This record gives sequence, C-alpha cells and structure tokens, in this order.
Amino acid sequence: MNGSLRVPGDKSISHRAIMLGSIALGTSRVSGFLEGEDSLSTLAAFRRMGVCIEGPDNGCLVIQGVGMDGLKAPDGPLYLGNSGTSMRLLAGLLSGQVFPVTLTGDASLSSRPMRRVTEPLARMGVQIGTSTQGTAPLHIDRRNRRLTGISYQLPVASAQVKSSLLLAGLYADGETCVSEPAPTRDHTERMLRSFGYQVRRDGSSICLTGGGVLRATDLDIPADISSAAFFLVGATIAEGSDLLLEHVGINPTRDGIINILRLMGADIEVLNARSVGGEPVADLRVRSAKLRGVAIPPDQVPLAIDEFPVLFVAAACADGETVLTGAEELRVKESDRIQVMADGLRLLGVDARPTADGMVIRGGTISGGRVQSQGDHRVAMAFAMAALRASDTVVVEDCDNVNTSFPGFVDLAAAAGLAIRDSMEG
Ligand code: S3P
Repeated sequence: MNGSLRVPGDKSISHRAIMLGSIALGTSRVSGFLEGEDSLSTLAAFRRMGVCIEGPDNGCLVIQGVGMDGLKAPDGPLYLGNSGTSMRLLAGLLSGQVFPVTLTGDASLSSRPMRRVTEPLARMGVQIGTSTQGTAPLHIDRRNRRLTGISYQLPVASAQVKSSLLLAGLYADGETCVSEPAPTRDHTERMLRSFGYQVRRDGSSICLTGGGVLRATDLDIPADISSAAFFLVGATIAEGSDLLLEHVGINPTRDGIINILRLMGADIEVLNARSVGGEPVADLRVRSAKLRGVAIPPDQVPLAIDEFPVLFVAAACADGETVLTGAEELRVKESDRIQVMADGLRLLGVDARPTADGMVIRGGTISGGRVQSQGDHRVAMAFAMAALRASDTVVVEDCDNVNTSFPGFVDLAAAAGLAIRDSMEG
C-alpha cells in the first residue's frame, strides 16, 4: 500500500457537531463532516426537529442553532439506522425536551442494550420505555417533570453513556457528575468547551451544571482514526508498503491502535502533530513491518475499542500468540465482534479461539474464502485487509453497512494498492 490519502471525517465528532451545533445559539460552520449513514441519521433527526442545516457539501455544513430550548417535536418516530451513538446520545439530549419522542433503529441497533442509558436517565427523572429486553424502540417522555443532576459511577467504560448523561445534565437542575472506570473518548467534553460550556474534570469524574448556554463555533473535524486503522494494519502487513495518512485525529483517548500496533512491532511515525479545534491531529506514516504476538495491555482496550476487528487481522499475521482479555463489550457492538471475527478468521484457516471477553490468536498463514460480515461495517473492512496476506481471493459478504462509517472505502483502498472490487457494482 503506497501513496498518501485522507480517510473520511471522525464519526464520533461528526455526531456531536450536529447535536451541539443544533442546540447552540447562532450559526456554526463545520468542515470535515463524515457523510456516512450514521452521522447522516443524526443530521436527519435534527432537521426533523426543526433545525436548518445546509449541506453536507464536500464535508461542509452550516448549522443554524436554535438554542437549548428551540427544538420542535418531530412528526413521528426518529429512525436512526445502525447508529448506537445517535440513539444513546439522543436519549440523553432528548430527555431534556418538553415533547415526547420515539427513537427506532435497524435490526442490529434494535438488539443492542439500552438500559445502560435508560436506567441512569430514570434516576435523573425521565422514564424511557423500552422493549422487555431493554432494547429500542425508546419512548422518551419527561411529562413536564424537571430533570435533576446526579452523580453516577459508570459500570462499564462507555463514552456513549457518559455523553448521554452529560447531554441530559445540560437540562438538569444542579450538577451532573459522571465517573468512569477507565478513560473513554472525551470528544463530548472537548466540544462542549469549544461551544463555551464549562466542564470540570475531578479525578475520574466529569461534571457540568445545567442551565447554561452553548454559543455557536466553527469546527474542523479530523479524519477518523478508526477508519485510518484499516490502513495502519493494511500497510503494516503488506510487504513493500509506505503510506501516509493525512490529518488523522490522535486524541489520547483513541490512540490505542497506534500503541498496540507499535507494541507488536509496527513502524508508525507520528508527523506534524498539531491541535485543530481542540482535538490533537497528525499525519501518520506507516511502513511494512514484521509483527509479533502480544498480550494486549488492559488499559489499551477502551482506547482501541472499535479497532479490534482489524487488530485481530494484524494478530493473524504476527509471529506467536496474541491474547486479548477484558473486552466483553465487543460482544454488544454492531455485531458480536468476538464471535463474528473468530468465525471468519477460522474459515480463512487462522487459529483463532474466542473467549468470553476476548480472543487468543496464533499467527500463521491466511487462506482465501467467503466470510460473513454479519452486516458489521468494521468486520467487513477488517476482512478486506486480511486479503493482503491471503493465499487466494477473500470474498466478504453483506458489505452495505460499510457506508455507515466509511463511504468510498473500496475506491480509497484500491487507490492505495489493495486489489479490491465491489461485486455489486460489477
Ligand atoms: C462511541 C463510543 C464507543 C464506540 C462507538 C462510538 C462514541 O461506544 O464503540 O463506536 O461516539 O461515543 P461505547 O460507549 O459503547 O463504548
């Protein structure tokens, strides 16, 4: 894989830009927005709540913020597709609104756990109806009660739950404090500050006081390190590679992929590190390297939580054994990423043994074959990269959801040197 490329904008930051820009006072201009289905679901939801948003035009948006209390009741349920971030963060933000609202999603999203947000939000004063399994659709109705701030210790390290409670906290009486068992991505906190809202960190707690105002700001969204991850692994495992990934977000709550790959022996240089709109950004140069198996340090797990599908592919190309533990959260992502990845790797002849909370992989050779992505975007792209080292063609089934996070993946990967084609396009 050779040349230089810029992967699309950060998905987490794109969601938050729409949400905070919509409830700010004034006009926010955004560049680098991810035009993927997930962030477009968030955009469509706010349009349906009366926010005027121009674009996206080449990643640029103009959001006419309506202020904290300016959202209007949508004319029906808000459909959020495959996007867990939209549903969990909106559950918090919409708990603060005077109107009732229903949130729905596709089959994958409708099977993901929502009690992790509905239970603490109930403690703040809003009852949210779910299915008996605690899944979507979510029916949110505050019934004119006021929200009260709470102090909440997160049982799982989850940025979505943290962010959901902080967004509800904007509308609550008093202070809302969320304490996390391990650092999770902090884009919400950083962006709230960019919109002029005070957020306090106190040890492992993040606190804010309700009733303030967000003021419009301009945002330049970096390229998504979770999308860059496929190329970091691809260029590492393909012989003769030298690839430059431009303008990638390297927020220290997201850089587990760089740390873990380096521990395995990868050659990744961080160049031209700079700060862009409150987020650290750099160009990443990656060259081929021989990898060795490692025990993945537990503190890196939340910092690389979305990157394990492609890290498993790296492990399959490494000398020796790679052991992941403490990652049971992978079982409740867009698919059960432990099972789905283990099934696909085994089908390609890799010694991959799933465990309750991780996987043990012994590196070796990879054969060709037809693998199921189970509709999971990151699983599909991870197996595409496995083809760089496979002895025969790898066919990945059910790839439509690649568009949720990485529109243009096939063309960009092909331009970098991967022999890939979309069979639906002939
Ligand atoms: C996200 C948080 C993570 C991550 C997801 C995006 C966010 O989920 O897996 O892709 O934008 O806050 P959890 O909070 O469930 O770990």
